[in-house]
Amino acid sequence: TVLPVVMAGGSGTRLWPLSRALYPKQFLALSGKDTLFQQAVQRLKGLANDTIDLAPPCIVGNEEHRFLTLDQLREMKVPAAAVVLEPMGRNTAPALTLAALYARDEMGNAEDPILVVTPADQTVTDVPAFTAALRQAVDAAADGSIVILGIQPDRPDTGFGYIRTRADGAVQPVAAFVEKPDLETAKRYLTEGCYYWNSGMFVLRASVWLKALAHFRPDIAQATEAAWRGKSTDNGFIRPGKDEFAVIPSESVDYAVMEKCPAEPKAGFGVKMVPLAAGWSDLGAWEAVWQVSEKDGDGNVAQGDAVIASSRNTLVHATSRLVSAVGLDNVVIVETPDAVLVADRSRSQEVKKIVTELEQRE
Ligand code: GDD
Ligand code: MG
Repeated sequence: TVLPVVMAGGSGTRLWPLSRALYPKQFLALSGKDTLFQQAVQRLKGLANDTIDLAPPCIVGNEEHRFLTLDQLREMKVPAAAVVLEPMGRNTAPALTLAALYARDEMGNAEDPILVVTPADQTVTDVPAFTAALRQAVDAAADGSIVILGIQPDRPDTGFGYIRTRADGAVQPVAAFVEKPDLETAKRYLTEGCYYWNSGMFVLRASVWLKALAHFRPDIAQATEAAWRGKSTDNGFIRPGKDEFAVIPSESVDYAVMEKCPAEPKAGFGVKMVPLAAGWSDLGAWEAVWQVSEKDGDGNVAQGDAVIASSRNTLVHATSRLVSAVGLDNVVIVETPDAVLVADRSRSQEVKKIVTELEQRE
């Protein structure tokens, strides 16, 4: 059995002011008519074939977004195997652990399901290529390997994990994994070659994740197990125990396990990478939204009630009134009823700083 796991509980701060704590980016339609979360769920449906017995997805999200999550699932008429609601964000390592515990304890006689883990904040243009790569990954994970989907990098982006491979081929052994290196390091990786970006999509058996986490971060494994034991269930929602969940250390899958597996081969967790060439994009910041959006002849993107004149490579996103721009170059303007962002497009990663500043004010 293959269990899709969609991690949808993040807060998406770099897309402020459109993405808010109570309405984060994965629930917005930033490209196309479906939201990013809906796209993530839909994309996985095509995975089933003669050999892949695909279970309905397990969604791991946040209590605060339960209505958004449920409404958006209903709109697509996708039945979820489970919607696990975290009382607060503790990053992706505990989130994935909850899904693995669900697979271990609640899936009847499904034998140690293979988890296909995906973030909910990405776009893919070539779905057939995506499906083919994921099927390869499912195949490669059957023997207990941890399989990462890797993307050929085209810029030294510091928002990604970097994977060093040893050989060529469809399925490649992973020699090293470095989460979010600094700019100097990212530039070096790009010149050295044989590095891929981590897509954030992983394929592995539930038991393999639980074993790897227990090995590298027993604290997170035990604390999450305790929260799972304290869970309550109603109307299809699974809620881990709040007090137990609150004390789980906050850590991502990448730092908790992925960086450590290839670095400590003696631990015995084999990591492989399957390259993914499917028009993948992580809508992490406004720069990426500009990249994937339809542009006029001068590279401008007008979203909502926006008028752009005599400008180049500029994005204007209007939500509640007419917004106009004249004579701009590489600028991002995002208008919402209570906040407006004006930024240098090439520095849109730094929007995070604004959100941090605002959090301190509260
Ligand atoms: N349930 C739950 N709980 N989901 C979460 C939480 C949480 O506490 N935190 C984040 N998520 C979800 C987000 O909504 C997103 O869909 C996914 O998990 C990944 O989290 P991000 O916070 O967006 O991670 P990132 O983009 O900084 O980095 C990851 O993705 C990159 C590719 O996009 C890493 O895996 C990088 O290595 C990778 O390159
Ligand atoms: Mg992300």
